[in-house]
Amino acid sequence: MRPLREAFGQFATGVAVITTATAGGERAGVTVNSFTSVSLDPPLALWCLSNRAPSAPLFLRAGRFAVNILAADQDHLSRRFATPSADKFAGVDLVPAPLPILAGTLASFVCRTERVHDGGDHHIFVGAVERYHRTEGEPLVFHSGRYREFWPELTVDGAA
Ligand SMILES: Cc1cc2nc3c(=O)[nH]c(=O)nc-3n(C[C@H](O)[C@H](O)[C@H](O)COP(=O)(O)O)c2cc1C
Repeated sequence: MRPLREAFGQFATGVAVITTATAGGERAGVTVNSFTSVSLDPPLALWCLSNRAPSAPLFLRAGRFAVNILAADQDHLSRRFATPSADKFAGVDLVPAPLPILAGTLASFVCRTERVHDGGDHHIFVGAVERYHRTEGEPLVFHSGRYREFWPELTVDGAA
C-alpha cells in the first residue's frame, strides 16, 4: 500500500480542513487533501474521508460540512486537524457561523451533504455549495508527504 500512497502523493494539492457541527453542538474537523471542485451548475464539491476516521459517524450524521482552504501560513492548523485530540478547536480562531469556519483561510464553502458514495476504504462526500467566501493569498501546498512553498510566479513564456 505504501508504494501506491507514495505514487498518489506525487499529485501536488492544496490543503483543506473540513469541519462540521451537529444541532447538539458536537464538532469535528479533519485535514484533507482530497477536496475537489466538481460542478459549477449545480455548484458541487467533494472530499474523501477514511471510513476508519473517528469523526466519520459525526460527518455522516450532521448532513452539512464546511470546507476551509488553508493559506500558506496555516500549516499549524493542518497539523492540528490531522492529529486526534479531545478538542481540536481549542484556541482556534473561528468566524461566527452555524458551522465552524476557520478565520484567515483563502476560501470557505458551506455545503449540504448531497450524497455519500462508497469509495473503498473512504466515504466520498459530495456537497451542494450553499455559501462561499474567498480572499487573495498564497495557498498551503502538499506534495510527497510534505508541506511546500510556491515557486515565484512564472511569466507566460516560462521565465521567472
Ligand atoms: C495534508 C493531509 C491530508 C490529509 N488528507 C486526508 C483525506 O483526504 N482524507 C482522510 O480521511 N484523511 C486525510 N488526512 C488524515 C486526517 O487528517 C487524520 O486522519 C485525522 O486525524 C482524521 O480526523 P479524526 O481523527 O478526528 O477523524 C490527511 C492528513 C494530512 C496531514
